[in-house]
Amino acid sequence: MARILLGVSGGIAAYKALELVRLAIAAGHAVRVIQTPAAQRFVGAASFAALSGAPVLSDEFERDPARGAFPGQPAPDHDPLSHLELVRNADILVVAPASANTIAKLAGGLADNLLTSAALAASSPLLVAPAMNNHMWEHPATQANVATLRARGVVVLEPCSGRLASKGEQGPGRLPEPAALLEAIEALTRPLAPALAPDLVGLRVLVTAGGTREPIDAVRFVGNRSSGRMGFALASEAAALGAAVTVIAANVALPRDARVTYVGVETAAEMQAACSAAFAEADVLLMAAAVADFRPARSFAGKLKKAAEERLRVELERTPDILSGLAAARRPDQTLVGFAAEHGEGALEHGRDKLARKGLDAVVVNDVARTDIGFDAADNEVTILTAAGETHIARASKPEVARAVLGAVVMLRGGSDPVVASDPSNPAGPAGPAA
Ligand code: CTP
Repeated sequence: MARILLGVSGGIAAYKALELVRLAIAAGHAVRVIQTPAAQRFVGAASFAALSGAPVLSDEFERDPARGAFPGQPAPDHDPLSHLELVRNADILVVAPASANTIAKLAGGLADNLLTSAALAASSPLLVAPAMNNHMWEHPATQANVATLRARGVVVLEPCSGRLASKGEQGPGRLPEPAALLEAIEALTRPLAPALAPDLVGLRVLVTAGGTREPIDAVRFVGNRSSGRMGFALASEAAALGAAVTVIAANVALPRDARVTYVGVETAAEMQAACSAAFAEADVLLMAAAVADFRPARSFAGKLKKAAEERLRVELERTPDILSGLAAARRPDQTLVGFAAEHGEGALEHGRDKLARKGLDAVVVNDVARTDIGFDAADNEVTILTAAGETHIARASKPEVARAVLGAVVMLRGGSDPVVASDPSNPAGPAGPAA
């Protein structure tokens, strides 16, 4: 049984949220509904109140007769602030349908109505189900807002394709069916048996993230497409599970997590120096950065001029293998995880080779030949290789994959975490995805 806080924003699809409430209640969940003022133009509060058996709120300054309690919960004996008390009691905040406007506000961190204020205050998982006209969905602004939310660990569902509300319109933008929405909610709120939940309390975790840039001259560099999303997801999830986390971040332009310490670097040499300084203090190293294997043998001071030459020859030299160097200096109580970006066939063999050659406890292999996962994408699909075997993690958001990797770390360190390590369809770690 989950306590579902359902935020309904403005759009024709708001009528489908009624069916979602009905299905959720029938499945034994408790539901409270918040509507944006625009949503009330489409479906009246009385319908949601009747189905959920609880008051429906819309205005931040409106008194909640239930004082933030869900059906079945005792109301507190004081009069709390509605948006804070509701999110405190909720296991999940679901925004369905999420209009383009509400998605933009969530991405921007606005708190101009009860729904957006609640979202900003929520520490539970946040599930967003967009529904809008196909042109609004495909607009670069909406796509950028969705990417921002996903990078923060928010689960944003893909809208379905088909006939849309306005006459003759067709394409992506339909709200998924209520049964599918409930399935997604249940996947995010299904509790793990406490004994199986990975616990990193007291562990010091060092993560590398992003891609190094090796200068050709003062303004040009040799680099790669790593965004740092996987490393940042690992860091946030490890912090949520109780670890003390330091990230050495090479050129990452993503939002930072207040629970994590960040050290910024640019080149492989700077990353090596920062790693060497921090490694002895770490219990776990998660080497997710894409470190350049080669760098210009010499870099030019100032900006190179085209001059008269038609060609410019840049000689590259090998960078130090940071991970191998750290592995050579490791203590037996440290756990080292490498990441292998492999292209196409033979990925797992190459990964196994790295596991042995670099002296690691685990290698996380992903296939960079695919454009829908891995480099600069919200999702990943990986195989975790250890001496004991391999675990395939089906395509999931990077925070979900991060939790599976951390589950494997817990197992390597003598804990047991078969659920998280082998079942990414059950992403609900004790903290759920960072919102
Ligand atoms: N790595 C590193 N220092 C480097 C290159 C890579 O520490 N100079 C780390 C990466 O962060 C990653 C792991 O080593 O965790 C595997 O990186 P990868 O480049 O895929 O492996 P290589 O052994 O360099 O093999 P190849 O490039 O030939 O596939």
